[in-house]
Amino acid sequence: MSHKQHIFVANWKMYHTGDSGILFARQNKKEFQDLVEQTGHEVILCPSSIDLRSVVQEMQESGVSIGAQDCSDAEQGAYTGQISASMIKSAGASFCLVGHSETRLYGGQTDHMIAAKIKQLCAHGIIPILCIGEDRQAYEQGRTFETISRQLALALESMRQGTIYLAYEPVWAIGTGLIPSCKELDDVVKWLHGHVHRSPMLTWKILYGGSVSETSIESFAALEGLDGFLIGGASLHIQAFKKIVSWTDLSNCR
Ligand code: PGA
Repeated sequence: MSHKQHIFVANWKMYHTGDSGILFARQNKKEFQDLVEQTGHEVILCPSSIDLRSVVQEMQESGVSIGAQDCSDAEQGAYTGQISASMIKSAGASFCLVGHSETRLYGGQTDHMIAAKIKQLCAHGIIPILCIGEDRQAYEQGRTFETISRQLALALESMRQGTIYLAYEPVWAIGTGLIPSCKELDDVVKWLHGHVHRSPMLTWKILYGGSVSETSIESFAALEGLDGFLIGGASLHIQAFKKIVSWTDLSNCR
């Protein structure tokens, strides 16, 4: 069966403890490899920064790509605790999440800082996965488009050419089991394509994230403009992740 190639990004956040992230990668390498080979989809694992290099090594020649979860907005210098885009590059990762709502919230990251991170990543040939999305209050007040338009403005200004993945993640859907309706998501996906289309030198993919699970995936599967998914909690369980990546029923979205 020929089908569209989708992108599945596994955001492991800080769920693993000790060596468990590296062990998870090692124990499931064959499963990940088979998944990529059998489905033809793109799988990107985002471990914590301390596990990045090891997970790259564990996944060598598996067909799976690796991404970091965040990076500094500076090239180098006195930035205790941060990791730079060049370090991410030399660790062997090819993607990096930026602007995740948890880093915006707990790390106090502004749209300015996020735009500078994107610049750093592009300078080092790493594809940014920019997370955008409205919180519950903005959603209830009908300010979804206003919010994501603001979050996109500086980011797109900082990146006039190259490839960017945009992950629409409504904050109220992350880790809650709540998901937008197909119509709501379809409206956002269409809006995003139209919006980014104004940057003619840019290549982009649109992802959805927020409570993607082996059951909710079927609600999104038929959305034509959606290129993939960003998965948190469910990506920690290999069987659930495999079911998400290998879903087949494309008919449930109304
Ligand atoms: P979730 O997280 O799948 O656990 O809702 C998604 C994310 O935060 O990227």
